[in-house]
Amino acid sequence: MNRRVSFLDLRVTDEQERRELLAAAEAVLCHGRIVMGPEMQEFETRIAAHLGRRFAVAVNSGTDALFFGIRALGLGPGDEVITTSLSWIATANAIALNGATPVFADIREDLNMDPESVRRLLTPRTKAILPVHYTGKVCEMEALLKLAASHGVPLVEDGSQSFDARHHGRVSGAFGTLGCISLNPMKVYAACGEAGVIVLDDEKLHERLIALRYNGTVNRETCIEPSLNGRLDTMQAAFLLCRLPRVAEIIRRRREHAALYSKLLAGLVGTPLEREGESDVYYTYTIRSSRRDELKAFLEARGVETKIQHPLLMPEQPAYRETVRGEFTNARRLVKEILCLPVHEKLTPSDIEYVAACIAEHGPSVPSWPR
Ligand SMILES: Cc1ncc(COP(=O)(O)O)c(C=O)c1O
Repeated sequence: MNRRVSFLDLRVTDEQERRELLAAAEAVLCHGRIVMGPEMQEFETRIAAHLGRRFAVAVNSGTDALFFGIRALGLGPGDEVITTSLSWIATANAIALNGATPVFADIREDLNMDPESVRRLLTPRTKAILPVHYTGKVCEMEALLKLAASHGVPLVEDGSQSFDARHHGRVSGAFGTLGCISLNPMKVYAACGEAGVIVLDDEKLHERLIALRYNGTVNRETCIEPSLNGRLDTMQAAFLLCRLPRVAEIIRRRREHAALYSKLLAGLVGTPLEREGESDVYYTYTIRSSRRDELKAFLEARGVETKIQHPLLMPEQPAYRETVRGEFTNARRLVKEILCLPVHEKLTPSDIEYVAACIAEHGPSVPSWPR
């Protein structure tokens, strides 16, 4: 009988955690401030402090965080935002839904945006740079921040996959004018439903974001610009407060699994690279294989669930491909090779060893590019 290794396990199996979550839910039900309750304000205060920012604005999803963030910067028709080619489509949608144009930069072997590609794509219409810290690895921020500064445009981080990832001592979400973060149930720091947050330092932008997240209103009733309702539920804020102290342990386990994979898989497939000064959180542990589809099927037959995140590049999605501007030669090559292995914190070292043994049984398939 094969073992079953799940890609995700969203059950709450830790008794203590379940008790804490239930108590938090009960507290919200008892005080009755189901929307905009005290837990939401406390969550904002705690997240801002945790990420070393002045403000946090809790919203309903990572998509909302990006959408309201871009809107608050005043970007719209005629403006271009340079982002990456490889991300969940929410990143491009948040730009396009504001009427601005996403421009797609190429990626490097580490699957993050290539600053050289960004430099080539800059035009007078470029009004923001939006890197995604993909797989839980912070992008090469020095180069991107320099490009944004020299072009006089804001940098917006999509830190949805990288909560608490570090880059030369600085944390994901602490680099840009805005840090936009998804806290959906799949994330390293996760609510028990949809959730997101924007972190920032600028007071004026903060004021605008507070209005944007609730129908563009101030003082409860006065609408100063049309917007949507993207408020975070008090219940999710309460769950997130319970889980914040657990994030460090979740990341420790994921990093331990990643280190074990990287040791066991060396020479068999392409493994993620962690350079000096980087501390990745392994939202995904993404390998590269020259026989990716075959390997995926082989692992499936042995009870190992894997995922391709994401099989279609954003510029190749039907919604974008007709009008696209960008560079994605490397991304096209890489997207055919990537495969995410199970790495979540509920797995045991023996699960990781089993997956690695299955990959060894399948045989080496190290991609030949780049050297
Ligand atoms: C990189 C990235 N950006 C944005 C999002 C959107 O977040 P949400 O699902 O919370 O709307 C996600 C979530 O999957 C993501 O991974």
